[in-house]
Amino acid sequence: MTLPASLGPSLVESYLQFIHDSCAVGEQGALADYIPELTRVDPNGFGLSMAVHEGHVYSIGDARIGFTIQSVSKPLTYALALTHKGFTAVDERIGVEPSGEAFNEISVDSQRRPRNPMINAGAILSASLLLEAQPDVDKAFAELLEFYGACAGRKLSLDTEVYESEMRSGARNRAIAFMLQSFGTLKAPPEDTIDLYFRQCSVIVTTDDLAVIGGTLANGGVNPRTGRRALGQNVVQRVLSVMTTCGMYDGAGDWVTSVGLPAKSGVGGGIMAVLPGQLGIGVYSPLLDEHGNSVRGVSACKRLSSDLGLHIFNVTRESRVTVRSHYDAEELDIETDRTPEERRFLNGKRNRIRVYELQGDLTFSGMESVLRRLRASASSFDVAILDMSRVDQIDEVSRAMLVGSSQNLRASGRDGVIFDPDSVVVQKGAHASEARRGAESVVQTMTEALTRAEDSLLEMAKEPS
Ligand code: DON
Repeated sequence: MTLPASLGPSLVESYLQFIHDSCAVGEQGALADYIPELTRVDPNGFGLSMAVHEGHVYSIGDARIGFTIQSVSKPLTYALALTHKGFTAVDERIGVEPSGEAFNEISVDSQRRPRNPMINAGAILSASLLLEAQPDVDKAFAELLEFYGACAGRKLSLDTEVYESEMRSGARNRAIAFMLQSFGTLKAPPEDTIDLYFRQCSVIVTTDDLAVIGGTLANGGVNPRTGRRALGQNVVQRVLSVMTTCGMYDGAGDWVTSVGLPAKSGVGGGIMAVLPGQLGIGVYSPLLDEHGNSVRGVSACKRLSSDLGLHIFNVTRESRVTVRSHYDAEELDIETDRTPEERRFLNGKRNRIRVYELQGDLTFSGMESVLRRLRASASSFDVAILDMSRVDQIDEVSRAMLVGSSQNLRASGRDGVIFDPDSVVVQKGAHASEARRGAESVVQTMTEALTRAEDSLLEMAKEPS
Protein backbone atom coordinates (compact mmCIF):
# COMPACT_ATOMS: atom_id res chain seq x y z
CA MET A 1 0.00 0.00 0.00
CA THR A 2 1.37 3.45 -0.86
CA LEU A 3 0.49 6.29 1.40
CA PRO A 4 -0.38 9.65 -0.20
CA ALA A 5 2.58 12.03 -0.02
CA SER A 6 0.45 14.51 1.87
CA LEU A 7 -2.75 14.10 3.81
CA GLY A 8 -4.31 17.01 1.90
CA PRO A 9 -6.18 19.84 3.57
CA SER A 10 -7.53 19.17 7.04
CA LEU A 11 -11.23 19.33 7.76
CA VAL A 12 -10.78 22.74 9.40
CA GLU A 13 -8.79 24.04 6.43
CA SER A 14 -11.42 22.82 3.97
CA TYR A 15 -14.08 24.40 6.10
CA LEU A 16 -12.33 27.77 6.29
CA GLN A 17 -11.72 27.60 2.54
CA PHE A 18 -15.44 27.01 2.05
CA ILE A 19 -16.37 30.05 4.15
CA HIS A 20 -13.76 32.13 2.32
CA ASP A 21 -15.08 31.05 -1.10
CA SER A 22 -18.71 31.67 -0.16
CA CYS A 23 -17.87 35.22 0.96
CA ALA A 24 -15.74 35.96 -2.11
CA VAL A 25 -18.77 36.59 -4.33
CA GLY A 26 -19.84 40.11 -5.32
CA GLU A 27 -17.85 43.29 -5.43
CA GLN A 28 -19.72 45.49 -3.02
CA GLY A 29 -17.97 48.27 -1.18
CA ALA A 30 -15.30 50.77 -2.15
CA LEU A 31 -11.60 51.27 -1.54
CA ALA A 32 -10.70 53.95 1.01
CA ASP A 33 -9.72 56.76 -1.32
CA TYR A 34 -9.25 59.53 1.23
CA ILE A 35 -5.73 58.11 1.63
CA PRO A 36 -4.71 58.06 -2.08
CA GLU A 37 -2.11 55.31 -1.70
CA LEU A 38 -4.75 52.89 -0.40
CA THR A 39 -6.42 52.80 -3.84
CA ARG A 40 -3.36 51.09 -5.33
CA VAL A 41 -4.34 47.64 -4.07
CA ASP A 42 -6.08 44.75 -5.80
CA PRO A 43 -9.74 45.21 -4.80
CA ASN A 44 -10.26 41.47 -5.04
CA GLY A 45 -7.56 40.52 -2.54
CA PHE A 46 -9.15 38.34 0.12
CA GLY A 47 -7.35 36.49 2.88
CA LEU A 48 -8.52 34.68 5.99
CA SER A 49 -6.40 33.32 8.85
CA MET A 50 -7.16 31.73 12.16
CA ALA A 51 -4.66 31.28 15.01
CA VAL A 52 -5.71 28.50 17.33
CA HIS A 53 -4.26 26.64 20.31
CA GLU A 54 -0.50 26.04 20.37
CA GLY A 55 -0.12 28.93 17.92
CA HIS A 56 -1.16 26.90 14.89
CA VAL A 57 -2.30 29.20 12.08
CA TYR A 58 -4.70 28.28 9.28
CA SER A 59 -4.09 30.51 6.24
CA ILE A 60 -6.65 30.70 3.44
CA GLY A 61 -6.61 32.75 0.22
CA ASP A 62 -4.44 35.88 0.22
CA ALA A 63 -3.31 35.30 3.78
CA ARG A 64 0.21 36.48 3.06
CA ILE A 65 -0.55 39.68 1.15
CA GLY A 66 0.82 42.65 3.06
CA PHE A 67 -1.54 45.56 3.73
CA THR A 68 -1.46 48.45 6.17
CA ILE A 69 -2.83 47.77 9.62
CA GLN A 70 -4.58 51.18 9.85
CA SER A 71 -7.09 51.31 12.72
CA VAL A 72 -6.41 47.73 13.80
CA SER A 73 -3.37 49.38 15.38
CA LYS A 74 -5.54 51.36 17.79
CA PRO A 75 -6.07 48.65 20.44
CA LEU A 76 -2.34 47.93 20.38
CA THR A 77 -1.21 51.50 20.91
CA TYR A 78 -3.88 51.89 23.60
CA ALA A 79 -2.46 48.75 25.27
CA LEU A 80 1.03 50.24 25.15
CA ALA A 81 -0.21 53.54 26.62
CA LEU A 82 -1.97 51.65 29.44
CA THR A 83 1.20 49.69 30.12
CA HIS A 84 3.38 52.84 30.24
CA LYS A 85 1.07 55.27 31.99
CA GLY A 86 -1.22 53.04 34.05
CA PHE A 87 -5.01 52.84 33.95
CA THR A 88 -5.79 55.92 36.05
CA ALA A 89 -3.65 58.30 34.02
CA VAL A 90 -5.01 56.98 30.71
CA ASP A 91 -8.63 57.01 31.89
CA GLU A 92 -8.30 60.68 32.84
CA ARG A 93 -7.53 61.44 29.19
CA ILE A 94 -9.48 58.86 27.12
CA GLY A 95 -13.02 57.61 27.81
CA VAL A 96 -14.34 54.10 27.26
CA GLU A 97 -17.85 54.86 26.01
CA PRO A 98 -18.98 53.84 22.53
CA SER A 99 -19.50 57.00 20.52
CA GLY A 100 -22.00 55.65 17.99
CA GLU A 101 -20.24 57.95 15.56
CA ALA A 102 -17.98 57.53 12.56
CA PHE A 103 -14.33 56.70 13.21
CA ASN A 104 -13.10 60.12 12.13
CA GLU A 105 -15.73 62.16 13.97
CA ILE A 106 -14.30 65.13 15.83
CA SER A 107 -15.90 64.10 19.07
CA VAL A 108 -15.14 64.44 22.78
CA ASP A 109 -17.18 63.95 25.95
CA SER A 110 -18.22 66.57 28.51
CA GLN A 111 -14.73 66.42 30.05
CA ARG A 112 -13.25 67.03 26.60
CA ARG A 113 -11.79 63.55 26.50
CA PRO A 114 -12.05 61.53 23.29
CA ARG A 115 -14.98 59.18 23.90
CA ASN A 116 -12.95 56.01 23.39
CA PRO A 117 -9.56 54.82 22.10
CA MET A 118 -10.99 53.18 18.97
CA ILE A 119 -12.09 56.37 17.21
CA ASN A 120 -9.38 58.53 15.68
CA ALA A 121 -9.52 61.18 18.43
CA GLY A 122 -8.85 58.54 21.12
CA ALA A 123 -6.21 56.79 19.06
CA ILE A 124 -4.38 60.05 18.40
CA LEU A 125 -4.43 60.74 22.11
CA SER A 126 -3.07 57.22 22.84
CA ALA A 127 -0.18 57.96 20.46
CA SER A 128 0.44 61.28 22.24
CA LEU A 129 0.69 59.42 25.57
CA LEU A 130 3.53 57.34 24.13
CA LEU A 131 5.29 60.56 23.15
CA GLU A 132 4.91 61.89 26.68
CA ALA A 133 7.02 58.92 27.79
CA GLN A 134 9.39 59.04 24.77
CA PRO A 135 9.34 62.46 22.97
CA ASP A 136 11.58 61.30 20.12
CA VAL A 137 9.19 60.14 17.36
CA ASP A 138 11.70 57.72 15.80
CA LYS A 139 12.41 56.08 19.14
CA ALA A 140 8.74 56.00 20.14
CA PHE A 141 7.89 54.37 16.80
CA ALA A 142 10.72 51.84 17.15
CA GLU A 143 9.34 50.82 20.53
CA LEU A 144 5.81 50.65 19.17
CA LEU A 145 6.94 48.53 16.23
CA GLU A 146 8.74 46.15 18.53
CA PHE A 147 5.61 45.77 20.63
CA TYR A 148 3.39 45.13 17.58
CA GLY A 149 6.00 42.59 16.43
CA ALA A 150 5.94 40.85 19.83
CA CYS A 151 2.16 40.48 19.45
CA ALA A 152 2.46 39.22 15.86
CA GLY A 153 5.44 36.98 16.61
CA ARG A 154 7.63 38.47 13.88
CA LYS A 155 9.44 41.70 13.00
CA LEU A 156 7.09 44.15 11.29
CA SER A 157 7.90 47.11 9.05
CA LEU A 158 6.52 50.38 7.73
CA ASP A 159 4.87 51.02 4.35
CA THR A 160 6.59 54.32 3.59
CA GLU A 161 4.35 55.16 0.62
CA VAL A 162 1.15 54.83 2.64
CA TYR A 163 2.71 56.74 5.53
CA GLU A 164 3.76 59.60 3.23
CA SER A 165 0.36 59.55 1.55
CA GLU A 166 -1.35 59.91 4.96
CA MET A 167 1.08 62.66 5.95
CA ARG A 168 0.12 64.57 2.79
CA SER A 169 -3.63 64.01 3.06
CA GLY A 170 -4.42 63.82 6.77
CA ALA A 171 -5.99 67.25 7.31
CA ARG A 172 -8.83 65.89 9.38
CA ASN A 173 -6.60 63.95 11.76
CA ARG A 174 -4.38 67.02 12.12
CA ALA A 175 -7.48 69.04 12.94
CA ILE A 176 -8.40 66.50 15.62
CA ALA A 177 -4.92 66.67 17.15
CA PHE A 178 -4.94 70.47 17.26
CA MET A 179 -8.47 70.49 18.64
CA LEU A 180 -7.37 68.15 21.45
CA GLN A 181 -4.36 70.38 22.08
CA SER A 182 -6.62 73.44 22.33
CA PHE A 183 -8.68 71.60 24.98
CA GLY A 184 -5.51 70.94 26.96
CA THR A 185 -6.12 67.19 26.59
CA LEU A 186 -3.26 66.50 24.17
CA LYS A 187 0.06 67.57 25.66
CA ALA A 188 2.68 66.25 23.21
CA PRO A 189 3.34 68.35 20.07
CA PRO A 190 0.38 67.71 17.68
CA GLU A 191 2.60 67.39 14.59
CA ASP A 192 4.76 64.72 16.25
CA THR A 193 1.67 62.96 17.51
CA ILE A 194 0.16 62.84 14.04
CA ASP A 195 3.46 61.64 12.64
CA LEU A 196 3.54 58.74 15.13
CA TYR A 197 -0.14 57.98 14.56
CA PHE A 198 0.28 57.82 10.76
CA ARG A 199 3.34 55.62 11.14
CA GLN A 200 1.45 53.20 13.38
CA CYS A 201 -1.39 53.07 10.83
CA SER A 202 1.10 52.30 8.05
CA VAL A 203 2.64 49.19 9.60
CA ILE A 204 2.45 46.31 7.11
CA VAL A 205 0.67 43.15 8.27
CA THR A 206 -0.86 40.02 6.75
CA THR A 207 -3.98 38.21 7.92
CA ASP A 208 -1.66 35.65 9.52
CA ASP A 209 -0.24 38.52 11.60
CA LEU A 210 -3.68 39.79 12.59
CA ALA A 211 -4.72 36.26 13.55
CA VAL A 212 -1.64 35.84 15.76
CA ILE A 213 -2.10 39.30 17.32
CA GLY A 214 -5.73 38.29 17.99
CA GLY A 215 -4.45 34.97 19.33
CA THR A 216 -2.12 36.83 21.71
CA LEU A 217 -5.10 38.78 23.07
CA ALA A 218 -7.18 35.57 23.20
CA ASN A 219 -4.35 33.99 25.14
CA GLY A 220 -4.34 36.64 27.87
CA GLY A 221 -1.30 38.47 26.44
CA VAL A 222 1.04 35.55 25.77
CA ASN A 223 1.85 35.13 22.09
CA PRO A 224 0.70 31.58 21.22
CA ARG A 225 3.49 31.23 18.62
CA THR A 226 6.49 32.46 20.58
CA GLY A 227 5.24 31.63 24.07
CA ARG A 228 6.40 35.10 25.18
CA ARG A 229 4.23 37.51 27.13
CA ALA A 230 3.65 40.63 25.04
CA LEU A 231 1.21 42.42 27.35
CA GLY A 232 -0.33 42.08 30.79
CA GLN A 233 -3.56 40.23 31.46
CA ASN A 234 -5.34 43.27 32.94
CA VAL A 235 -4.40 45.32 29.86
CA VAL A 236 -5.77 42.57 27.60
CA GLN A 237 -9.04 42.57 29.53
CA ARG A 238 -9.41 46.33 29.06
CA VAL A 239 -8.46 46.24 25.38
CA LEU A 240 -10.94 43.44 24.63
CA SER A 241 -13.65 45.36 26.48
CA VAL A 242 -13.26 48.47 24.35
CA MET A 243 -12.92 46.38 21.20
CA THR A 244 -16.28 44.78 22.06
CA THR A 245 -18.13 48.03 22.63
CA CYS A 246 -16.32 50.41 20.26
CA GLY A 247 -14.20 48.35 17.85
CA MET A 248 -16.55 48.51 14.90
CA TYR A 249 -17.55 52.18 15.33
CA ASP A 250 -21.16 53.02 14.52
CA GLY A 251 -21.57 49.40 13.40
CA ALA A 252 -20.58 48.16 16.89
CA GLY A 253 -24.07 47.16 18.10
CA ASP A 254 -24.86 45.24 14.95
CA TRP A 255 -21.44 43.59 15.15
CA VAL A 256 -21.80 42.48 18.76
CA THR A 257 -25.23 40.99 18.15
CA SER A 258 -24.43 39.29 14.87
CA VAL A 259 -20.76 38.32 15.25
CA GLY A 260 -20.21 38.62 18.98
CA LEU A 261 -16.41 38.78 18.97
CA PRO A 262 -14.26 41.65 20.22
CA ALA A 263 -12.84 43.03 16.98
CA LYS A 264 -11.14 45.92 15.27
CA SER A 265 -11.31 46.95 11.64
CA GLY A 266 -9.06 49.17 9.56
CA VAL A 267 -9.55 51.09 6.31
CA GLY A 268 -6.69 49.05 4.83
CA GLY A 269 -9.28 46.25 4.66
CA GLY A 270 -8.16 44.26 7.69
CA ILE A 271 -10.28 42.97 10.56
CA MET A 272 -8.91 41.32 13.66
CA ALA A 273 -11.34 39.37 15.84
CA VAL A 274 -10.76 37.53 19.10
CA LEU A 275 -12.51 34.70 20.86
CA PRO A 276 -11.07 35.04 24.38
CA GLY A 277 -9.39 31.88 25.62
CA GLN A 278 -9.62 30.27 22.21
CA LEU A 279 -8.56 31.89 18.98
CA GLY A 280 -7.67 34.91 16.90
CA ILE A 281 -8.99 35.69 13.42
CA GLY A 282 -7.48 37.91 10.71
CA VAL A 283 -9.39 38.83 7.56
CA TYR A 284 -8.39 41.08 4.68
CA SER A 285 -10.43 42.44 1.81
CA PRO A 286 -10.02 46.12 0.94
CA LEU A 287 -13.54 46.96 -0.31
CA LEU A 288 -15.19 48.81 2.57
CA ASP A 289 -18.76 49.49 3.68
CA GLU A 290 -20.07 52.88 4.79
CA HIS A 291 -18.62 52.40 8.31
CA GLY A 292 -15.11 51.81 6.96
CA ASN A 293 -15.29 48.05 7.65
CA SER A 294 -14.28 45.45 5.06
CA VAL A 295 -17.43 44.10 3.34
CA ARG A 296 -16.11 40.58 2.78
CA GLY A 297 -14.32 40.70 6.12
CA VAL A 298 -17.57 41.41 7.96
CA SER A 299 -19.41 38.72 6.06
CA ALA A 300 -16.63 36.15 6.68
CA CYS A 301 -16.66 36.96 10.40
CA LYS A 302 -20.46 36.57 10.48
CA ARG A 303 -20.19 33.18 8.80
CA LEU A 304 -17.34 32.02 11.03
CA SER A 305 -19.21 33.06 14.12
CA SER A 306 -22.54 31.49 13.25
CA ASP A 307 -21.23 28.33 11.57
CA LEU A 308 -18.55 27.59 14.17
CA GLY A 309 -20.53 28.87 17.18
CA LEU A 310 -17.90 31.46 18.08
CA HIS A 311 -20.17 34.17 19.56
CA ILE A 312 -18.82 35.07 23.03
CA PHE A 313 -22.30 34.75 24.49
CA ASN A 314 -22.97 31.41 22.88
CA VAL A 315 -23.87 29.49 26.02
CA THR A 316 -24.50 26.04 24.66
CA ARG A 317 -22.12 24.15 26.90
CA GLU A 318 -23.25 23.16 30.33
CA SER A 319 -20.77 24.51 32.80
CA ARG A 320 -18.25 21.75 33.35
CA VAL A 321 -18.70 19.69 36.45
CA THR A 322 -15.72 20.54 38.63
CA VAL A 323 -16.01 17.64 41.09
CA ARG A 324 -15.44 14.57 38.94
CA SER A 325 -16.06 12.07 41.72
CA HIS A 326 -15.54 11.56 45.43
CA TYR A 327 -14.78 8.46 47.46
CA ASP A 328 -13.55 7.34 50.88
CA ALA A 329 -9.82 6.83 51.36
CA GLU A 330 -10.67 3.24 52.32
CA GLU A 331 -10.67 2.56 48.62
CA LEU A 332 -7.03 3.61 48.30
CA ASP A 333 -4.62 0.72 48.25
CA ILE A 334 -1.75 2.76 49.70
CA GLU A 335 0.40 1.77 52.70
CA THR A 336 1.53 4.61 54.91
CA ASP A 337 4.50 4.46 57.24
CA ARG A 338 3.01 3.92 60.71
CA THR A 339 3.98 2.56 64.13
CA PRO A 340 1.98 -0.50 65.20
CA GLU A 341 0.10 1.68 67.69
CA GLU A 342 -0.84 4.26 65.05
CA ARG A 343 -1.85 1.48 62.67
CA ARG A 344 -4.16 0.02 65.34
CA PHE A 345 -5.75 3.41 65.89
CA LEU A 346 -6.19 4.13 62.21
CA ASN A 347 -7.63 0.71 61.42
CA GLY A 348 -11.12 1.21 59.94
CA LYS A 349 -10.86 4.99 60.12
CA ARG A 350 -9.94 5.74 56.53
CA ASN A 351 -13.64 6.22 55.85
CA ARG A 352 -13.29 9.51 57.76
CA ILE A 353 -11.02 10.71 54.95
CA ARG A 354 -12.87 11.78 51.80
CA VAL A 355 -11.09 12.25 48.46
CA TYR A 356 -12.59 14.78 46.02
CA GLU A 357 -11.32 14.53 42.46
CA LEU A 358 -11.48 17.94 40.78
CA GLN A 359 -11.10 18.47 37.04
CA GLY A 360 -10.79 21.02 34.25
CA ASP A 361 -9.90 24.68 34.70
CA LEU A 362 -10.73 26.05 38.12
CA THR A 363 -12.27 29.51 38.14
CA PHE A 364 -14.51 31.25 40.67
CA SER A 365 -17.78 29.51 39.76
CA GLY A 366 -16.23 26.02 39.65
CA MET A 367 -14.47 26.58 42.97
CA GLU A 368 -17.67 27.93 44.50
CA SER A 369 -19.45 24.67 43.67
CA VAL A 370 -16.57 22.64 45.19
CA LEU A 371 -16.71 24.62 48.42
CA ARG A 372 -20.49 24.29 48.58
CA ARG A 373 -20.21 20.50 48.22
CA LEU A 374 -17.54 20.33 50.91
CA ARG A 375 -19.77 22.25 53.31
CA ALA A 376 -22.84 20.16 52.51
CA SER A 377 -21.02 16.89 53.21
CA ALA A 378 -18.77 18.13 56.01
CA SER A 379 -20.44 15.91 58.63
CA SER A 380 -19.41 12.79 56.72
CA PHE A 381 -15.64 13.32 56.85
CA ASP A 382 -12.91 14.59 59.15
CA VAL A 383 -10.31 15.21 56.48
CA ALA A 384 -10.87 16.10 52.84
CA ILE A 385 -8.20 15.40 50.24
CA LEU A 386 -8.66 17.58 47.18
CA ASP A 387 -7.14 15.69 44.26
CA MET A 388 -5.90 18.25 41.71
CA SER A 389 -4.26 15.72 39.37
CA ARG A 390 -6.90 16.36 36.66
CA VAL A 391 -6.94 20.13 37.02
CA ASP A 392 -5.35 21.92 34.09
CA GLN A 393 -5.28 25.48 35.36
CA ILE A 394 -6.35 27.44 38.36
CA ASP A 395 -6.79 31.19 38.51
CA GLU A 396 -5.67 33.41 41.40
CA VAL A 397 -9.07 33.67 43.05
CA SER A 398 -9.62 29.90 42.98
CA ARG A 399 -6.13 29.31 44.34
CA ALA A 400 -6.91 31.59 47.26
CA MET A 401 -10.32 29.92 47.74
CA LEU A 402 -8.71 26.50 47.73
CA VAL A 403 -6.06 27.35 50.30
CA GLY A 404 -8.67 29.27 52.34
CA SER A 405 -10.99 26.27 52.33
CA SER A 406 -8.40 23.98 53.92
CA GLN A 407 -7.75 26.68 56.53
CA ASN A 408 -11.52 26.89 57.18
CA LEU A 409 -11.75 23.14 57.55
CA ARG A 410 -8.96 23.30 60.11
CA ALA A 411 -10.71 26.09 61.98
CA SER A 412 -13.82 23.88 62.21
CA GLY A 413 -11.84 20.98 63.72
CA ARG A 414 -11.41 19.17 60.41
CA ASP A 415 -8.60 19.30 57.91
CA GLY A 416 -8.02 19.68 54.20
CA VAL A 417 -5.09 18.39 52.18
CA ILE A 418 -4.40 19.36 48.59
CA PHE A 419 -2.87 16.68 46.37
CA ASP A 420 -1.14 18.71 43.65
CA PRO A 421 1.19 16.41 41.64
CA ASP A 422 1.64 18.81 38.70
CA SER A 423 2.15 21.93 40.82
CA VAL A 424 -0.89 23.77 39.48
CA VAL A 425 -1.67 25.19 42.94
CA VAL A 426 1.81 25.91 44.22
CA GLN A 427 4.44 26.22 41.55
CA LYS A 428 7.51 24.01 41.85
CA GLY A 429 10.35 25.73 43.61
CA ALA A 430 8.05 28.28 45.23
CA HIS A 431 9.16 28.24 48.83
CA ALA A 432 8.71 30.67 51.65
CA SER A 433 7.18 33.00 49.10
CA GLU A 434 3.74 34.49 48.47
CA ALA A 435 2.74 31.39 46.54
CA ARG A 436 3.44 29.11 49.48
CA ARG A 437 1.85 31.27 52.12
CA GLY A 438 -1.04 29.42 53.72
CA ALA A 439 -0.43 26.44 51.46
CA GLU A 440 1.33 24.11 53.96
CA SER A 441 -1.28 21.49 53.18
CA VAL A 442 -0.23 21.12 49.54
CA VAL A 443 1.58 17.85 48.78
CA GLN A 444 2.81 16.18 45.63
CA THR A 445 2.01 12.47 46.05
CA MET A 446 -1.12 10.63 47.14
CA THR A 447 0.96 8.76 49.77
CA GLU A 448 1.96 12.11 51.30
CA ALA A 449 -1.66 13.29 51.12
CA LEU A 450 -2.88 10.18 52.90
CA THR A 451 -0.09 10.34 55.48
CA ARG A 452 -0.93 13.97 56.15
CA ALA A 453 -4.67 13.14 56.41
CA GLU A 454 -3.98 10.26 58.82
CA ASP A 455 -1.68 12.51 60.88
CA SER A 456 -4.66 14.83 61.23
CA LEU A 457 -6.90 11.98 62.43
CA LEU A 458 -4.23 11.09 65.03
CA GLU A 459 -3.99 14.76 66.11
CA MET A 460 -7.77 15.05 66.36
CA ALA A 461 -7.86 12.02 68.64
CA LYS A 462 -5.37 13.74 70.98
CA GLU A 463 -7.16 17.08 71.11
CA PRO A 464 -10.29 17.44 73.20
CA SER A 465 -12.99 18.30 70.63
O1 DON B 1 -6.71 57.83 10.61
C1 DON B 1 -7.12 57.36 9.59
O2 DON B 1 -8.01 57.87 8.96
C2 DON B 1 -6.53 56.05 9.10
N1 DON B 1 -5.12 56.07 9.18
C3 DON B 1 -7.07 54.91 9.89
C4 DON B 1 -8.56 54.90 9.94
C5 DON B 1 -9.13 53.54 10.00
O3 DON B 1 -8.52 52.56 9.69
C6 DON B 1 -10.55 53.48 10.35
N2 DON B 1 -11.00 52.11 10.34
N3 DON B 1 -11.89 51.56 9.83
